[in-house]
Amino acid sequence: MGNSQKIKWGIVGLGNIAQQFASELQLIDSAELCAVASRSIDKAQDFANKFKCSKAYGSYDELFQDENVDILYIATPHDSHAELTIKALQNNKNVLCEKPLALHYGDVVKMITTAKKYNKFFMEAFWTRFNPSIRETLQHIQNGSIGEVKYVNADFSIKFENPDNTRMTDIELGGGALMDIGVYPLFLAYLILGIPKEILAKSNFYSTGADTQTSIILQYEGAQAVLHSSFLYTCNVEATISGTKGRINLDPLWFMTESYSLTQGDQKTKFERPTLGKGYTYEIEECHACLKANKTESELWSHQNSLELAAIVEEVKNKIGLVYS
Ligand SMILES: NC(=O)c1ccc[n+]([C@@H]2O[C@H](COP(=O)([O-])OP(=O)(O)OC[C@H]3O[C@@H](n4cnc5c(N)ncnc54)[C@H](OP(=O)(O)O)[C@@H]3O)[C@@H](O)[C@H]2O)c1
Repeated sequence: MGNSQKIKWGIVGLGNIAQQFASELQLIDSAELCAVASRSIDKAQDFANKFKCSKAYGSYDELFQDENVDILYIATPHDSHAELTIKALQNNKNVLCEKPLALHYGDVVKMITTAKKYNKFFMEAFWTRFNPSIRETLQHIQNGSIGEVKYVNADFSIKFENPDNTRMTDIELGGGALMDIGVYPLFLAYLILGIPKEILAKSNFYSTGADTQTSIILQYEGAQAVLHSSFLYTCNVEATISGTKGRINLDPLWFMTESYSLTQGDQKTKFERPTLGKGYTYEIEECHACLKANKTESELWSHQNSLELAAIVEEVKNKIGLVYS
């Protein structure tokens, strides 16, 4: 893939996040949306018209067979990520798949094994990893600016209207606060502190069996993370990382933040880091960089990172008694 060539994207499943992603593709000069697929040809055609995309398919399989696309973005509910990603890889497509990669750890293993077998680029769309403030936060920590990290506190609780009518409460689609939004606080704790020694977690549940609120403590040698997620009410959606010499506060909404502060003693320094678009642009650019360098995974959010995070999520599921078929 030459450096001057545009990367041709295809999108599978044309819901809410697909719309946002397609808008952000338009902000990247080296990206072209060349095909979209829905279970409905009318919906695909409307989406294609809106985003000036030349090809619309009324089934996902047709897009998997399109020889013209470089990379597919899987934007369906979590329950179908594994099956669709594996099919796409088997059709020799590179894949960016929405988070969480799958409902079960074993399926994440299968997805990564298939990517390796077909030697294709594959990444979980954990866009927060590429957010400029998050990247700088890691640099501050590595530089020792806040000393030894002892505590990570993050919440992702945003009220969803009409929970009865969303995939959020649909257990068949992998609904629940943990899998949809609770993975973000877990991601942050994992990014900073790694794999915990012990996990404590408690949830309350919707009538469907999907968790409505989940609180988690991750226990590390000499450090702890306290994490929370819910879709029944709105919290501050902030994150704080505290160390022996200072702390970093990621401003709301921390998972897509445009600013943060570094406090050392009495001195607080504020950093404004506006994002290009909402920030999906950075994961798109990471995919482009990897494809142009013939890499099959990102060094910033690797297969191993996805596997380790999925293992943590699996243990939280077991602790709270969350069951998906
Ligand atoms: N990175 C982020 O910031 C972010 C934000 C929101 C969501 N997400 C992730 O993106 C995924 C999709 O979320 P979303 O909010 O975009 O969901 P959504 O609005 O419900 O859209 C999902 C799309 O998937 C397709 N689909 C395939 N099988 C389906 C089924 N059985 N039921 C319903 N839809 C089905 C549909 O597209 P067609 O009708 O066109 O086939 C639907 O429009 C989830 O895994 C979620 O975790 C990520």
